[in-house]
Amino acid sequence: MILDLTGVRALVTGGTRGIGKAITQMLAAGGARVAINYKSKSGPADDLSRILGERHFEHMMLRADVTQERAVGTMLKRISESWKGLDLLVLNHGIWEEGILGQMNLADWRDTINTNLTGAFIVANECVRLMLEEEATVPKRIVFIASSAGIRGEAEHIHYAASKGGMIAMMKSLAVELAPHGFTVNAVAPGWIETDMTTEHLAKDGMRETITGRIPLRRIGTPEDVASAVLFLASRQAGFINGHVLRVNGGETL
Ligand SMILES: NC(=O)c1ccc[n+]([C@@H]2O[C@H](COP(=O)([O-])OP(=O)(O)OC[C@H]3O[C@@H](n4cnc5c(N)ncnc54)[C@H](OP(=O)(O)O)[C@@H]3O)[C@@H](O)[C@H]2O)c1
Repeated sequence: MILDLTGVRALVTGGTRGIGKAITQMLAAGGARVAINYKSKSGPADDLSRILGERHFEHMMLRADVTQERAVGTMLKRISESWKGLDLLVLNHGIWEEGILGQMNLADWRDTINTNLTGAFIVANECVRLMLEEEATVPKRIVFIASSAGIRGEAEHIHYAASKGGMIAMMKSLAVELAPHGFTVNAVAPGWIETDMTTEHLAKDGMRETITGRIPLRRIGTPEDVASAVLFLASRQAGFINGHVLRVNGGETL
């Protein structure tokens, strides 16, 4: 049986680069229509739009900072006008900054919490109204992209770990709250994945070898490793999985 998303209308936040780009491409290849959000970098957005267009995949690119309620409202209005509804929300946007207690300031803390956690709330809050508006013809799904940091914590990134732990708690709450409406709500928690977010860190002297040595499968993950998990959770085949955190980390954090 193949995973088929025909008829699914999806929104992926931060969907133009790294993990989000792989998710977008995999959902589109699975038959979904994809609305792809990004904050400001139009180069990667244009490139992805061209790639999807060449394969005749129905998509729209939506520039909006997820921390700005009005911009998110405008984004949802466009989706609503074009597609009249929404079935799948993937909350993937995120930032990963250094954050050491005693060395960071309140603005650093707020920036990460605001982007990762409050941004997820703002988008989910707007989307759920649209997702609840009509009788479901395909399963309704929300997938949060959390992190190993949200499960085991992360030294020197305390605001990031707190934001991802908060996302997992929000996911579990929504899994129960939205189940009567036929939704499933889950999270994927990636470990080390090769993207723009991690390039600089992995390039530090000896870092790649150190990190790879801690991962039982002895490799850094790819964006496609994460996207495959999202595709599964979005599919009909995952219909009885609700409130789960799916680790995609090569066995590093159990
Ligand atoms: N890479 C890893 O090792 C790893 C591990 C665990 C979890 N994760 C999580 O996986 C997700 C994707 O990570 P990635 O590595 O693919 O990151 P990335 O390559 O840095 O891409 C981040 C994406 O998020 C968008 N974004 C950032 N802030 C935004 C905002 N305020 N509003 C709207 N979009 C925003 C960016 O848009 P622009 O292009 O316009 O900037 C970009 O599309 C994140 O939530 C991250 O925390 C990653």
